Amino acid sequence: MQILHTVAELRAAVRQANEVAFVPTMGNLHAGHLELIRTARQRGLPVVSSLFVNPLQFGPGEDFENYPRTLQADATQLAEAGCTILFAPTVAEMYPEAQTCNVTPPLADILCGASRPGHFTGVTTVVLKLFNMVQPTLALFGKKDYQQLFILRLMTRQLNLPIEILGVDTVRAEDGLALSSRNGYLNAAERAEAPRLYQTLRAVATALSAGETDLATLEHAATVELARHGWQVDYVQIRAQSTLLAPNPTETACVVLAAARLGNTRLIDNLEVTRPVQAV
Ligand code: PAF
Repeated sequence: MQILHTVAELRAAVRQANEVAFVPTMGNLHAGHLELIRTARQRGLPVVSSLFVNPLQFGPGEDFENYPRTLQADATQLAEAGCTILFAPTVAEMYPEAQTCNVTPPLADILCGASRPGHFTGVTTVVLKLFNMVQPTLALFGKKDYQQLFILRLMTRQLNLPIEILGVDTVRAEDGLALSSRNGYLNAAERAEAPRLYQTLRAVATALSAGETDLATLEHAATVELARHGWQVDYVQIRAQSTLLAPNPTETACVVLAAARLGNTRLIDNLEVTRPVQAV
């Protein structure tokens, strides 16, 4: 695996390849990231992965400074998983001047965007820059960041980027906790409590698939359940998979999304669910 740090080196390397798949990351890799690499490999394409902790997507008081930077360990794991090129630029390489030309996507101020102003502008801007550098035909993202995946698909479609966006299922620990680089912030007691987020989403999904139609009551009960166990809940919301907005009564393909804090750690998770057709 080649490890490259400059845009010029990256461009020269991808010019040699006919077609590449791309897995952007912020590093501190876990089995979820490696699943993205393996899925890309199954398409028979060389895989470029990027490792860049993007300052543009962190708000004031968020964990940009403390975000774990583990380049050596990440490079070893990527090489073992079959990654061809690792692009690990510095902040100055990615942003040689103040980034004043940004992509501001729709749906950036709902769900996670409501408590993280500017976050999705930071994500879409850096991903578009990376797409322009790597020029992949396929890019893979985890479904754990459901809103991010939705917004990146929308950007790719509306800006006519010739890239297939593939969402890959969330990888979970045995107790159901969605793997995340931020799980490492949890202390032992918080780690023991953390699977409740997934359990709570499952309870909502089970009720929905059994035909429950009072969405507000389900969302409220889930919020109360988490709060009762010490979580500070940002949101528990039932949305339509097709729009990320409140589903109308005829929409059956839904997703239950949640974000909540345990101590100082903000965790997110979601579950797709198909509910029965409702009589209208
Ligand atoms: O999901 C992430 O790790 C980041 O948001 C991404 C897509 C690599 C952009 O910085």
